[in-house]
Amino acid sequence: MISRAIIDEIIFRNDIEQVIGSYVTLKRAGSNMNGLCPFHSEKTPSFTVFPATKSFYCFGCGAGGDVISFVMRHENLDYVDALEFLAARAGITIPVDGESEKQNGIPRKRVYEMNLAAARFFRDCLYDEKYGKAAMEYLVGKRKLDMATIKHFGIGCSPDNAWMLTNHMKRLGYNDEELSAGFLCGIGKNSGKPYDYFRNRVIFPIIDTTGNVVAFGGRVLDDSKPKYLNTSDTPAFKKSRHLFALNFARKHCEERMILCEGYMDVVALHAAGFENAVATLGTAITSEQARIFAKYTKQVIICYDSDDAGQTAANKAIRLLSEVGIDVRVLRLEGAKDPDEYIKKFGADAFGRVLDAGVTGFDFKLGNIIKKYNLAVSEDVIKASAEVSQLIAYTNSEVERELCIRKAVDILKVPFEAMKNDVERIRRGLLREMKKKQSEAAQMSVKNLDDRVNTDASRNVRGSRAEETLLGLMLIFDEFRHEAATGKIGLSSEDFVTAFGKRVFDSLCRLELDEQGFSKSLLGLDFNADELGRIERIELERRSLARNDREVFLASIAALKKEKATVNSENDPFADLRLKQELNKRAKENKNT
Ligand code: CTP
Ligand code: MN
Repeated sequence: MISRAIIDEIIFRNDIEQVIGSYVTLKRAGSNMNGLCPFHSEKTPSFTVFPATKSFYCFGCGAGGDVISFVMRHENLDYVDALEFLAARAGITIPVDGESEKQNGIPRKRVYEMNLAAARFFRDCLYDEKYGKAAMEYLVGKRKLDMATIKHFGIGCSPDNAWMLTNHMKRLGYNDEELSAGFLCGIGKNSGKPYDYFRNRVIFPIIDTTGNVVAFGGRVLDDSKPKYLNTSDTPAFKKSRHLFALNFARKHCEERMILCEGYMDVVALHAAGFENAVATLGTAITSEQARIFAKYTKQVIICYDSDDAGQTAANKAIRLLSEVGIDVRVLRLEGAKDPDEYIKKFGADAFGRVLDAGVTGFDFKLGNIIKKYNLAVSEDVIKASAEVSQLIAYTNSEVERELCIRKAVDILKVPFEAMKNDVERIRRGLLREMKKKQSEAAQMSVKNLDDRVNTDASRNVRGSRAEETLLGLMLIFDEFRHEAATGKIGLSSEDFVTAFGKRVFDSLCRLELDEQGFSKSLLGLDFNADELGRIERIELERRSLARNDREVFLASIAALKKEKATVNSENDPFADLRLKQELNKRAKENKNT
């Protein structure tokens, strides 16, 4: 069996836009790409590539999946052959069996143990006269951290030496494969020998909420590049699912949390008493991380760097955090590039005041629009008003729209009624478009009910719809898949009414429980190209729908169980009789006691 890490690598190195783009002429359409479907003949493009989810779907013929399923279908290969095809394309060698198992099949616990030992090593180095002198000087002298903070975060350093950690870890009994799988060492291309991954850096251990050291971030002591090295994703670690310092912040976050960009910002904020600060691990915030926030807090204050990159990143964070129902505020720091510098310059009290002055996501975006224009020029006012109306039209609450319009007309000095009319007109257009999409989707599901993929679906429309909802949620959200797979939620494959639904459910559960961790792509081993297309559609439809997912999840389970019960009693002429017998039996037992 091919390891998850290799599959992830193959998907990562075969950019879906590029691979599909080499077969199909794609045009950008918003954040997606459109083209004429290579799998059925059509004149208007209904074939769509979704770079964000690394997937594709044809709204005309139902072909869909990831880059591997695309190749399966286009080159007519099975899953493993398609993988090999893409591996070759990207110049990756798939290790023969056993080899890969050994390298990546290291139990999570072993990785955590290894990381803990490494964290202790890094920490001891920092306090060592010889090895830690430069790093300590940097932290205390240059970055003005006090000893308590350094200890609190378990900050350490890696010596300016290529083998110290490796040798130390080997003495503790860890072998080369383990060390390289855990990203503590690399393996020399020519020598085949291991060497320390982190050298001459300040080391920040990244600790999850249960106290495991899951990864490291290492910063250089000067201006050399790259500024940070981070542990890459492993079977035991996905950076998109962790937040730096959440292990501390979780105890101070009921009301609000602060989201910043850098490790150093978080450290400085905690030291200044803002212990509700966290940061992503060197990447833009993901929807998984947004959901983590939603679990812990009500309000998030985004405090990104004041440069353009930081402000652009803030837009994405606003969207993702608002989507999960968080009250989002944004800080714009004046006179400093990031929170770390701000506190150094102006002090903790000043930062506290700025925190309370954070603006809403709308105000932030409004400010960005207005900044672009010269409001003394009437053409500019018109352009700005158009952009602002567009922005407000996406707000669902009518009250909120009113308030936003009031604020905007105040600044733009345009009549309230005029902007309100504009907003409502744009909104009607949006709603029309949404309805059209929905009815297309509905038509599609009716059309697909008597298809080859799910032959039982037409016999139980309600049941199969509930199944699709459940499977869609399990595909999108790790927590639902986990709850279902571990039996926590009381859903089992026995509850499914269609053979296809049952198979998808079983596969998802099996992949979830795999010790290497879940990989959706591996569905390619269990399903053919048509079935993979259906699975993609199930996920896609769910993704485009409203929130309140847990409620939907539970309601669908209930609906499915109800359907199943009806099906059972229809199929079983004695069901009624048996129920009566059971009731009689219980009645008797009750009498006897
Ligand atoms: N980062 C990274 N690789 C880089 C640069 C940055 O992974 N080459 C990540 C790190 O997680 C870093 C974050 O992006 O913490 C934000 O970058 P930056 O603002 O440059 O880092 P700071 O933590 O503010 O570090 P410093 O103040 O020491 O410059
Ligand atoms: Mn910084």
